[in-house]
Amino acid sequence: MNNLENKKILLIICGGIAAYKSLELIRLLKKKGSLVKTILTKNSQKFITPLSVSSLSQEKIYSDLFDHENEAEMDHISLSRWADLILIAPATANTISKLSYGLADDLASTVCLASNKKILLVPSMNVRMWEHKTNKENINKLKSLNYGIIGPEIGDMACGEYGEGKMTEPKEIINYLSSYFKNISNNKKYKALVTAGPTCEFIDPVRFISNKSSGKQGYELANSLKNNGFETILISGPTNQQDVEGVKMIKVNSAKEMYDATMDNLPVDIAIFSAAVSDWKIENFNKEKIKKNGDLNLSLVQNIDILSNISKNNSLRPKLVIGFAAETDNLVENSKKKLDEKNCDWIIANDVSNNEIGFDSDYNEITIFYRNKNLEKISKMKKSLIADKIVERVISDLN
Ligand code: CTP
Repeated sequence: MNNLENKKILLIICGGIAAYKSLELIRLLKKKGSLVKTILTKNSQKFITPLSVSSLSQEKIYSDLFDHENEAEMDHISLSRWADLILIAPATANTISKLSYGLADDLASTVCLASNKKILLVPSMNVRMWEHKTNKENINKLKSLNYGIIGPEIGDMACGEYGEGKMTEPKEIINYLSSYFKNISNNKKYKALVTAGPTCEFIDPVRFISNKSSGKQGYELANSLKNNGFETILISGPTNQQDVEGVKMIKVNSAKEMYDATMDNLPVDIAIFSAAVSDWKIENFNKEKIKKNGDLNLSLVQNIDILSNISKNNSLRPKLVIGFAAETDNLVENSKKKLDEKNCDWIIANDVSNNEIGFDSDYNEITIFYRNKNLEKISKMKKSLIADKIVERVISDLN
């Protein structure tokens, strides 16, 4: 099957000797039926000409940020919205550095900064430049920002030196893109549901009890599932997170509302319960604001356990049920207990007593407890990358 047919590729060619390979890349993409729009940086035009690129891509070339003709027809925002994927090949050390600092001083860097799409970099540079600590830091930062990196390869370089830094061959880039899009189209048949954030249990119209949770990890999971082609529903308690584009967003307050919304959206193939659901609710909600007349005694009753109810529901249970466990001590013991008692396929545990991870942090460190195999630790990394690692494992479990 041709996974590249009708795919919209925005190719950014930077100024490096490997730019000549990008002409072959365009030829192969066109042969596969992809639509290719190209941005040429100023320096790339010292290696290849706009005429050769437009002849091969059968499209006009974009190069100037302040080109009134192009901006009127397709501005830098529309260009990035048009694309299914942005591919930077070759990606030079200079462009990599600019992207890692969020510079926007030309069309290529501005499009990337304004983009909400997957961006793949195909680095190409001298081995010393590739191995330079600054470049490594930039690459690591871009990885943490969800950029994909293809290559570079080891071999003889145009400058006469030998080592890592050669641009990956166009054929290999095509194979990479093909499996990238194949993965996405395979996953389109799956429906995923994620719960995220805290729940709020109101005492009266202005007061509530809640759990500590930023919702970040759940939102990142929904985003990663969506990026991997899943039809995704995110049911969220109150958070400060931005809605995830392309995901069905359902906002709730209480655990009961979260449960009802989850039930309303079943069946799904996979459900990830990352919400920090309040374990108790007020027995009797006061319709009027309670007046302050000394101490207040509240009667709390246990809330519905959303995860347990759904994982024990024989007719509606998703194929893959994943729970989270926020623990401050006895992580292994408590997580295994939750795996059994809540009838989950996996429990993803994090140690919330560690301030550098969990809760409001951008970072997390998790241990996955599987029903049928040994536990797996995923070391500290950005929550977006943790989400990608979890989704990778979800995909291999479903297939
Ligand atoms: N969960 C749920 N509904 C609840 C409580 C928890 O769906 N009423 C889910 C959470 O989303 C999470 C898992 O159950 O996936 C474990 O949540 P956690 O708060 O760690 O455990 P609890 O069951 O609340 O147990 P405890 O607070 O005693 O550790």
